[in-house]
Amino acid sequence: MKKEKKFKVVVTRKIPPAGLELLKKAGFQLKINPFDRILSKAELKKFVKGADAILCLLTDKIDKEILKAAGPQLKIVANYAVGYDNINLKDCQEKKVMVTNTPGVLTETVAEHTIGLLFAITQRIVEADRYVREGKFKGWAPMLFLGTDLRGKILGIIGLGRIGGEVAKRMRDGFNLKIVYYDIFRNFSLEKKYKINYLPLKTLLKTADFISLHVPLSPKTYHLIGWPELKLMKKTAYLINTSRGAVIDERALVKALKEKLIAGAALDVFENEPKLTAGLKNLPNVVLTPHIASASWETRSKMSEMAALNIIAALEGKKPPNLVV
Ligand code: GLV
Ligand code: GLV
Repeated sequence: MKKEKKFKVVVTRKIPPAGLELLKKAGFQLKINPFDRILSKAELKKFVKGADAILCLLTDKIDKEILKAAGPQLKIVANYAVGYDNINLKDCQEKKVMVTNTPGVLTETVAEHTIGLLFAITQRIVEADRYVREGKFKGWAPMLFLGTDLRGKILGIIGLGRIGGEVAKRMRDGFNLKIVYYDIFRNFSLEKKYKINYLPLKTLLKTADFISLHVPLSPKTYHLIGWPELKLMKKTAYLINTSRGAVIDERALVKALKEKLIAGAALDVFENEPKLTAGLKNLPNVVLTPHIASASWETRSKMSEMAALNIIAALEGKKPPNLVV
């Protein structure tokens, strides 16, 4: 049999090997970004030229220009993330390029990181760690680093998808919090399954002791939490974000934290990543992690496999398992 031309798969950043092995086994030609950094737009345009598949990250903006630079043979853009706000879906549909993501495999890992952040901020773990390292610990003291109990308090989940649901379940079953949620869609079956009450957004903001965001970024959720919403929150409330930075108006948040409108925030994502809004990193009542909520060895390997399987299906003329459009 005459050997067909090998499909070319470009990978915009080094990822765990599991998926790359699958792509190699499938007989594709692989090109991996050799630098340990995000490619600039100009570099990305050159890098994708001639690709049949692009395995990209949430840090790569994929639009008409990139699709055009790749060429008409491009069949699939496989995002190495569950969120796909970095991809212009309309442009992909117009060019008949499939888009896939990596849902499901990272759900529990992100839920665990969210809970980690909630503990870190309410128990003041990061602040206290810094204090010990700086040699300030002079002995046990009754008023040293008083934090906030979790049990019996109300956790407000905004966005009851897979991740929001797993956070709710763990916090209710494991830590005895009361859970309420807001979502644009009421999910009666999850309400029953997790014994959660629905509240309109404003009521949730006023009621919850801790608020955790689990919505995708879209024009509808952009700055969902801004100054008016922060003003509704309790002065003792904490805000957690592991979704997308721009769901919060970060300037309003910094102001709210400075003015003690809310007690604190723990953020894994930022509005203009990797840049931080001025003043954010100087605040004591914040915990900041660098967009690592899904970053466990296990999960990142599964994401790598999942992105690869989507590409293999698409290039073999089948429907990818995680087709977005
Ligand atoms: C990470 O933020 C993801 O969307 O997978
Ligand atoms: C994303 O995976 C979600 O549904 O929460």
